Amino acid sequence: MTNEQYHSLIPPYHDAMELILTRLEMLNHKVYDCEDLQPIHSITSRIKEKDSIEKKLEKQNMPASVRNAKTTLKDIAGVRVICFFERDIRQLSECLKKQSDLVIIREKDYITTPKPNGYRSYHLIVGVPIYYMDGMEYYPVEIQFRTISMDFWAAMEHRICYKSQPFNEIEMRNAFLQYSEILEKMEKSFEAYSENCS
Ligand code: GTP
Ligand code: MG
Repeated sequence: MTNEQYHSLIPPYHDAMELILTRLEMLNHKVYDCEDLQPIHSITSRIKEKDSIEKKLEKQNMPASVRNAKTTLKDIAGVRVICFFERDIRQLSECLKKQSDLVIIREKDYITTPKPNGYRSYHLIVGVPIYYMDGMEYYPVEIQFRTISMDFWAAMEHRICYKSQPFNEIEMRNAFLQYSEILEKMEKSFEAYSENCS
């Protein structure tokens, strides 16, 4: 993929991502009708770099072409929504899923069923309609919903396990699994203290 090809691939993904960011901001103000209880703590977003697109396609034994990127990769546009509690994630994602112009491409609920390593998060890939002068096309945006504690765990796991040395790998993996459960308990007790005025 040339630089020019990458730069012409990205704009509709960027527009789709901006649209999702705006919808999330609007839901954040409206979802509980109570300003003190906004469900979103913070949002980050990113467009996948050219290098990462090429690496991901090569890993799947595919030539790194624009066509393969468009048909295969659903995470060129990515949004991470950090909420306070699980109930915020449920409320927000249900509201977003009801928006009838969006299509649900994929849903992975690692909160109900965490990954074996302890990873917890709710992933939603939505198709966003992007209109041209002469037509419309859906572009995918990957939305990861996490609570603060899920995000803390995932950031640490990404940093530490990525660089892990084989000699203490088993010990470390056990520790991460345990921490995931501890954090879940901690968050649930904070959630019980928190008032709900929805
Ligand atoms: P990717 O090829 O990595 O995009 O994974 P996938 O297509 O199997 O999708 P999945 O929904 O499982 O994961 C998508 C993204 O979630 C990843 O790119 C990470 O950002 C995040 N993620 C998934 N599993 C883990 C994990 O075990 N640890 C951490 N830290 N992040 C994870
Ligand atoms: Mg990814």
